[in-house]
Amino acid sequence: MADIHNKEVDKLSGVETTGHEWDGLKELNNPLPKWWLYSFYICIVWAIGYWVLYPSWPMISGYTSGVLGNSQRADAIAAYEAGIEARSEFADKIVAASLEEIKADQSLLEFASANGAAAFGDNCAPCHGTGATGFEGYPNLQDDTWIWGGSLDKIQTSILYGIRSGHDEAHVGDMPAFGRDELLSREEIDQVASFVAQKAGLEPKEGIDLAAGETLYADNCAACHGDDLKGIQDVGAPSLVSANYLYGKTLDAITAQIRNPRNGVMPAWEARLDPATIKSLTVYVHSFGGGQ
Ligand code: HEC
Ligand code: HEC
Repeated sequence: MADIHNKEVDKLSGVETTGHEWDGLKELNNPLPKWWLYSFYICIVWAIGYWVLYPSWPMISGYTSGVLGNSQRADAIAAYEAGIEARSEFADKIVAASLEEIKADQSLLEFASANGAAAFGDNCAPCHGTGATGFEGYPNLQDDTWIWGGSLDKIQTSILYGIRSGHDEAHVGDMPAFGRDELLSREEIDQVASFVAQKAGLEPKEGIDLAAGETLYADNCAACHGDDLKGIQDVGAPSLVSANYLYGKTLDAITAQIRNPRNGVMPAWEARLDPATIKSLTVYVHSFGGGQ
C-alpha cells in the first residue's frame, strides 16, 4: 500500500511517482496543468459573484434573489402585460371603427386578420374546417357562393346572431319538408328533383316528365329559390345552380333534401365572443376572397 518513502522515478516517462502502489501499479505524480488550475479558480470566483448578483440558492421557502433583482418570471409577466395593453388598444380601435374603416386601415386590418384567424381556429374550424372550406352541411366560406350574403354587414349578422339559432335576431327560414309532411307525392318529388338536377347540369332521372317538374318548381320552390334557381339570400335559400351544394350536388342528395330538409343550425356568437373578436372574424371571413 501507500508508502511515501517508496517514491521513485518511473523509467518509461521520467516522472516521479507518488509512492502509492496497488498490486504493482504505481501512480505518477503529474501536477494539474497551470491553465487548468487557474481556470478552476476563476470559475470559483465567478460562481461566488453569480450567487451574489443573481437568483441562485434554494431556501426553505423561495430562493436567494440576488442583488440585481433579476427575474425571468417578472420579465415574462411584464411582456405579457405589455402585450395585453397593446392588444386592448387595438381592440378598442376595432370596436370604434366601422367594418369598412377596418378594411381600409392597414394596421387595423392586420390586427383584425390575425385576431380573426386565431378566433376562427378556436370557434369556427370544428364546423367550417380549418381552411374554412366547409363540410357537407357546413358551408364553404372560401368560395363566392353565399347562402345569407357575403357583404361585410351580412357576414357579421350571420356570425352575431347565427342561423336558426333561436336568437331573436337570427336568420330564420325553413325549407318545407315536402316528403315528410306529404306536401308532394313521391312522383312529384322525383319530377321536381330531376328538373332541378337538370338545371344544375346533372343527369335527370330517365324518362321523367321534366315539364311537370318545371311547373312543380314554379308553384312550390320559386318563391324561395327564385325563378332563375339562383337562390334568395333574404330567406337563406341557396342557389341551386352553383358549383357548390351544401348537401351534395347529386340527384339523390337533391331528392333527399326535398323529402326531408336539414335546415342547418349555426350558433349565435353575440354572447360568446366580444365585439372586437366578432368584427375581426367578419373582416377575416370577408377577406377569404368571396367577400362581396
Ligand atoms: C356548430 C357548427 C357551426 C359552428 C361552430 C360555426 N358555424 Fe357557421 N354555419 C354553420 C352552418 C350549419 C351554417 C349554414 C346554415 C344554413 O344556412 O343552412 C353556417 C353558416 C355560416 C355563415 C353564412 C354562410 C353563407 O353562405 O351565408 C357564416 C358567415 C358563418 N357560418 C361563419 C361562422 C363563423 C365566423 C364561426 C365561428 C365564430 C362559425 N360560423 C361557427 C355551422 C357552424
Ligand atoms: C320557404 C322557402 C323554401 C321553399 C319553398 C323551398 N326551399 Fe329549398 N331551401 C330553402 C332553404 C332555407 C334551404 C337551405 C336550408 C337547409 O340548410 O336545409 C334550402 C335548400 C334546398 C336544397 C339544398 C341545396 C344545397 O345547397 O344543398 C335543395 C336541393 C332545395 N332546397 C330544393 C328545393 C325545391 C326543389 C323546392 C320546391 C319543391 C324547395 N327547395 C322549396 C328554402 C326553401
